[in-house]
Amino acid sequence: MAERADLRRRPQRITVRDILRTAVNLEKKAMALYMQFTRVFEDQEELRKFWFGMARHEASHLGALALVEGVVENDPDVAESSKVWFDPSTVVRLRSLLNAYSREAGKKVSVERAFEMALDVEGSELEDVVVDLLHVVREQMVRDQAVKFLIHDLSDLSYMVEKFTNDEALLARADALVDHRVDALAADRARKASQGDARDE
Ligand SMILES: [Fe+2]
Ligand SMILES: [Fe+2]
Repeated sequence: MAERADLRRRPQRITVRDILRTAVNLEKKAMALYMQFTRVFEDQEELRKFWFGMARHEASHLGALALVEGVVENDPDVAESSKVWFDPSTVVRLRSLLNAYSREAGKKVSVERAFEMALDVEGSELEDVVVDLLHVVREQMVRDQAVKFLIHDLSDLSYMVEKFTNDEALLARADALVDHRVDALAADRARKASQGDARDE
């Protein structure tokens, strides 16, 4: 498969069409993992609800990717001309991580371990790729909203880590993820402002 051949290459800019299918598959796996956590913690209502919210947030990324796909199908030129930075080895790493975590979540996992797995998933480049792909939609509002939801969900994750664990290292990781998102939002806005309303390459 072309996708597999691409995976051996170095970090590169690849077309939206190439990455879309892969991103959808990874988002589905992330959603499935959080759904598994709703079962693991089904007797602890606050945790069950939280993990359901995380699954919903991945479902909203799938919706965002469907929107990108709609734009691409409607305008094939955009599909070929829009490119996204992506390290193909990230796909391999994240796919095997999600598969391993899914197996692990099939058994009993601790509250801490579930948070740790979520931080690994959220700290991967997957959400950056979704935000990058949203440039194709060219509506700043759509992208801003997606990033604001990300910040909101990661803040929730940080709050839950603080509430349910005494793990300072986990909390520091959660807070760093929120900061990363806030910085990325500011950078995206600055980039857009400096470009005016110019089309992304
Ligand atoms: Fe996601
Ligand atoms: Fe996520």
